[in-house]
Parts: sequence; C-alpha cells; structure tokens
Amino acid sequence: MDPIVAKYDKKQAALLPVLHAIQEKEGIISQESEKAVADYLGIPVVHVREVISFYHLLRRKPQGKCHFAVCQTTSCALLGGEEMIEYLKQKLGIQPGETTPDGKFSFSVVECLGACEIAPMMQCNEDYVGQLTKEKINEIIKEYQ
Ligand code: FES
Repeated sequence: MDPIVAKYDKKQAALLPVLHAIQEKEGIISQESEKAVADYLGIPVVHVREVISFYHLLRRKPQGKCHFAVCQTTSCALLGGEEMIEYLKQKLGIQPGETTPDGKFSFSVVECLGACEIAPMMQCNEDYVGQLTKEKINEIIKEYQ
C-alpha cells in the first residue's frame, strides 16, 4: 500500500499529504494530477479542487523562486499590511496571483497566517517575516536577484 495512505484509517484522509507530495515532486498540482488524486482516493475531483483553492500553499501554476504571501486580515491590515501590498505591486510590477517575467518573484494576498503578534506580516516561501517594512521587502528582493 502507498506509504502515505497507509498512515490513515480512511484513504480520503490522506488528501492533503498526497497533494503536498505531488507538489513537492512536480512543483505544481496540474489538472491531470487533480483527476488522478480524485480517482486514487475515490473522491470527486471538485473536492480536490476546493482543497487546493482553500490552502494557499498548494498551487496550480508555477510560482516565483521567491513567493510572497502577504496577510490582508484585520491585524495586519490595520498595522500597514495594505501599504505593503501596494508597495509589492509597484516594486515587482505584478498583481497578486502573477509571477514576474523572469520567474524570480510571485505574490499572493492571503488570510490570517496565525502570526498576528508580528503584524503586519508575510511569508516568503516557508519563512515568516514580521513587522514588515518596505526596507525588509527590499532586502528580500535583493537577496533573490
Ligand atoms: S491578521 Fe495577519 S497574521 Fe493574523
């Protein structure tokens, strides 16, 4: 039996770990993979799509080498998050959901990441960056260029 699925009483419960494994191997979760996972776990493909849409760490299209996920929820918004989102748009020349032409940067706007104590904050790939400022954004961009 598949070692991921073997950890769960019900096959369907392995959905998230299976999706993460696919993304880790292929970089994205394609439509073909969505269908294959649905067939494999015996669940509707629409359920797989809903889960991918809900979890911002799961993606259908390639992201930049550095992906910014900026929190737009209340604590972050009140402490300057909106200004940081506008700054990223201007600095990178892209809108949320897009990737720069050189493939280095992408950015999305997300809901609370559970780190309100360091608001305003964002994730840069897996790392949390808190008390976000334009200077911190500039440093990260410089690091990835
Ligand atoms: S409101 Fe931004 S991390 Fe919670």
